[in-house]
Amino acid sequence: MKSIVILISGRGSNMEAIVHACQQEGWPARIAAVVSNKASAEGLQFAAARGIATAVVDHKAFDSREAFDAELARVLDGFAPDVVVLAGFMRILTAGFVRHFEGRMLNVHPSLLPAFPGLHTHQRAIEAGCKLAGATVHFVTPELDHGPIVAQAAVPVLPGDTPQALAERVLAQEHRLYPQAVRWLVEDCLALDAGVVQHRDGTPQVTWGG
Ligand code: GAR
Repeated sequence: MKSIVILISGRGSNMEAIVHACQQEGWPARIAAVVSNKASAEGLQFAAARGIATAVVDHKAFDSREAFDAELARVLDGFAPDVVVLAGFMRILTAGFVRHFEGRMLNVHPSLLPAFPGLHTHQRAIEAGCKLAGATVHFVTPELDHGPIVAQAAVPVLPGDTPQALAERVLAQEHRLYPQAVRWLVEDCLALDAGVVQHRDGTPQVTWGG
């Protein structure tokens, strides 16, 4: 039985999708904890109500990124995670932290990486005239929103789309994509070679949503 720790900063809808999938699909894993850098993160209540351990490491209580990351790593290590899932965890992580969890830490980003790393992805995709947008699950490396791509979901950008409308269309796909990708990592289905991730069985790593 593997242990998954999920990091959130807010709403936690991707975390919810992963918790549901893990329980309903009977993964060989348990959600050991949900950890946030904000005590006000709504998702903490969802986790606590389901008997999942929660913890808060408030980044504002630390003088430096290094000090925050050291404490965060210490708290995570206390749950002995096999897999660390960043689910709307809005902190830039130090290289030391990333290396500590390298190969077992995933992130979801609301764009088709390597396009539009960083913030305001939907507005930037609309302004660039993109006809496709989407979400990417990737292994976390020290460079923000980079790292070997595990899976992508594509959706159309529709005429007249607002950033919010596009965000909702993408988020619906994230809720399917991210649990699938986490399950692949839990079940050792992924092979990483020269920065490229392949599913061992050749299962398609792209989905198309409306
Ligand atoms: C999601 O859309 C996720 O892709 C994005 O934050 C949202 C969190 O929603 N993450 C990033 O932008 C990370 N660079 P959630 O809290 O409801 O899962």
